Amino acid sequence: MSSFILNHRRHEIPRESEQCTTKARKHWAWKKAVPYLLKEQRLLFILLGIALTSAFFLLQPQYRFRSSSGGKSEHLPLSERHDISYYKELSSSDSFGGYENAYDSWSAFGKQQQQQHIRHMSTGAKIPLGLKRKALRVVVTGGAGFVGSHLVDKLIARGDSVIVVDNFFTGRKENVMHHLGNPRFELIRHDVVEPLLLEVDQIYHLACPASPVHYKFNPVKTIISSSFHACLLTTNVVGTLNMLGLAKRVGARFLLTSTSEVYGDPLQHPQKEEYWGNVNPIGVRSCYDEGKRTAETLAMDYHRGELVNVRIARIFNTYGPRMCIDDGRVVSNFVAQALRKEPMTIYGDGNQTRSFQYVSDLVNGLMRLMESEHVGPFNLGNPGEFTMLELAEIVKEVIDPDAKIEFRENTEDDPHKRKPDISKAKDLLGWEPKIALRDGLPRMVSDFQKRLFGDHKEKLSVAD
Ligand SMILES: NC(=O)c1ccc[n+]([C@@H]2O[C@H](COP(=O)([O-])OP(=O)(O)OC[C@H]3O[C@@H](n4cnc5c(N)ncnc54)[C@H](O)[C@@H]3O)[C@@H](O)[C@H]2O)c1
Repeated sequence: MSSFILNHRRHEIPRESEQCTTKARKHWAWKKAVPYLLKEQRLLFILLGIALTSAFFLLQPQYRFRSSSGGKSEHLPLSERHDISYYKELSSSDSFGGYENAYDSWSAFGKQQQQQHIRHMSTGAKIPLGLKRKALRVVVTGGAGFVGSHLVDKLIARGDSVIVVDNFFTGRKENVMHHLGNPRFELIRHDVVEPLLLEVDQIYHLACPASPVHYKFNPVKTIISSSFHACLLTTNVVGTLNMLGLAKRVGARFLLTSTSEVYGDPLQHPQKEEYWGNVNPIGVRSCYDEGKRTAETLAMDYHRGELVNVRIARIFNTYGPRMCIDDGRVVSNFVAQALRKEPMTIYGDGNQTRSFQYVSDLVNGLMRLMESEHVGPFNLGNPGEFTMLELAEIVKEVIDPDAKIEFRENTEDDPHKRKPDISKAKDLLGWEPKIALRDGLPRMVSDFQKRLFGDHKEKLSVAD
């Protein structure tokens, strides 16, 4: 056998003259090829082709996935195909063993699976530095409301496509009307208590009547959608469940807008995220407080059990343009009353405290959280603390120094103190509010003036 190979090879060896001819031919080929390439800008076109091909594969990371994962990426959800930089971030940071207590309770199997999944997702998922991120498809439930509409403005400005889902219970079409006609904007009248199927990358779940006037009106729906009492309960529970189900089905990231009300009438001050709260489960505010607490529980269960990518924000009192007038929240109440020359109503002795955050600060915080690798919960609020009497004085300074104050009996379960500890959001999200109450209030006042009095500015006597 070996002799055969030897013979065979010997037979293959070219004779000396043949070798010379081959060398000469090669030499001749190079001599011809080089000038050929240099002629008629051929080399330039070749280099241009290489550059274009490289740019194409760098800009379309999903094609790189396809090659590295045997074509499996075709079945990946939209979010995973688009938001690859996020997975890279995740895989490079210790997001599972680190700061989140919630993660500690994950089963080893769940962790392993998720880590494997993330490793898989991060293979070759490079977006070159300096290139713009891919636009996302984002759902904002409750997007026609106060906070939601500001969030929609910012998402659209960022270049994303936004679908607003709202039943207009407390929201208004006017809040988002300026986006109608924009091909990246859609508005769907829909109650989140009913299931909905959409192909999206991210879900901001805000749908829930947030003001006491509204949620006391329909408590059962509040808890279910986190909707008004029955309505509030239904909205918070069934609504959140439906949106989590959607997130699971399409692989979207899900952000829940919870509330400082989960701390109830707090016995810890300021409130940290680790505090479990002091909530009356059977009071008039319970539909909202317990609805949101249940919504948080559902979100964490979907996160642990179904591996849904969840974010939880606990929002503290927020104010700004487009707030519902007469919705029973203290800032809107005072501003509307002072503008109408009515006495400002203080419930109780006015020494209870709240902190007030301007809406743009909140929207920045929500988006930071959504884009971060952290689940939360995170307190999002302004730590500046004011008594109701101090707030009334500031409103007087801004609107009318002669405005009167009227005291009424306090409402049931009104928290005595409220102030967020935002160190966690500062450390992990790099977020903190920027706008002080005295700077934010005038912006809200001019919006309320327009909505209350239209163009009849002569009716107003707003201090500078
Ligand atoms: N604004 C604050 O100070 C504050 C504080 C804590 C938490 N939050 C939370 O932030 C979110 C937004 O609050 P907001 O101040 O913008 O309130 P908002 O009442 O202005 O907005 C809520 C929106 O949800 C819609 N909605 C209510 N129930 C719905 C349902 N079943 N289906 C579809 N849409 C529904 C309403 O029509 C409205 O557009 C809420 O979840 C609220 O609990 C707000």
